[in-house]
Amino acid sequence: MTSSAIAQPRQAQDSPRVGAGGATAQQDAAAVMPKLLEVEGLTLQYKTPQHLVTATYRIDCAVHEQDRYVVLGPSGCGKSTMLKAVGGFMTPEEGHIRLRGREVVGPGPDRMMVFQEFEQLMPWKTVLENVLFPMRISGRFKGKDAMERALSVIDKVKLTKFRDAFPHMLSGGMKMRVAIARAMAMEPDILLMDEPFAALDALTRRKMQDELLQLWEQVRFTLMFVTHSIEEAIIVGSRILVLSPHPGRVRAELDASQLDFNAVGTPAFGALSEKIHGLLFEHELGHAARHEEPEA
Ligand SMILES: Nc1ncnc2c1ncn2[C@@H]1O[C@H](COP(=O)(O)OP(=O)(O)OP(=O)(O)O)[C@@H](O)[C@H]1O
Ligand SMILES: [Mg+2]
Repeated sequence: MTSSAIAQPRQAQDSPRVGAGGATAQQDAAAVMPKLLEVEGLTLQYKTPQHLVTATYRIDCAVHEQDRYVVLGPSGCGKSTMLKAVGGFMTPEEGHIRLRGREVVGPGPDRMMVFQEFEQLMPWKTVLENVLFPMRISGRFKGKDAMERALSVIDKVKLTKFRDAFPHMLSGGMKMRVAIARAMAMEPDILLMDEPFAALDALTRRKMQDELLQLWEQVRFTLMFVTHSIEEAIIVGSRILVLSPHPGRVRAELDASQLDFNAVGTPAFGALSEKIHGLLFEHELGHAARHEEPEA
């Protein structure tokens, strides 16, 4: 395989072309993309000698190629646990996780986790060395092949001029590009990100969201992204899986493919935000309403 194969979107092979009926190119693309990741009846639990914690309960969902699939829900609803399970770091209590039809039974280079704040970059290594490192250490790619792939992926994320720079010389957005390039160099099927921007101030966060979307426009990777911010979910996501409070169950799956960074403040953005807010908090509102009922 040549280095130009890196992160190229795979064409739909087994899915029939769905009539778009006036849909935009993006909707159309989503409609024809094959299913990549299937989650079926997924119950995840932590067992300690004292406690049994059910983190997610019978979750069903599917991620298609080139989705920016956001898992959204309140703190403690099991988002990170779900991502860990997709990463292969946790075994389901019930249900299945399948990638390209194959059961996930452990971690693998087909699912790359991009960690919070990109602190996984090694400060003593250059951009190029950082990208080369996992390829060589895993033995997946070697020698000239690894170098070609690294240079190609660095070019894709537009960092060729900075390939000999060290992480401390880069902006936050550029570090993210390196972290993503490093993950993409392994040719994963899907990138997993768990609240990568949670610790950032509002302005930087917005900039990083924008950078992530720009990069997606250029490279079209498949992303599974966890957040508990409604706004971030709508900006980043093409589809949003809304989970209930602990234990996480599926409340809804919503289309946000037409709304991004530029849609913030528009009526459509506001309407989706309201809808999600309702889905996330209807449980609590129900409680409040019951509490307010006069005692018989
Ligand atoms: N290692 C663990 N051992 C026992 N229970 C755990 C462990 N990790 C998480 N939990 C529990 O599992 C549930 C889901 O946790 P998880 O971290 O997946 O939530 P989350 O949706 O990612 O929350 P947040 O938005 O705060 O990151 C919580 O009740 C949490 O307390
Ligand atoms: Mg979490």
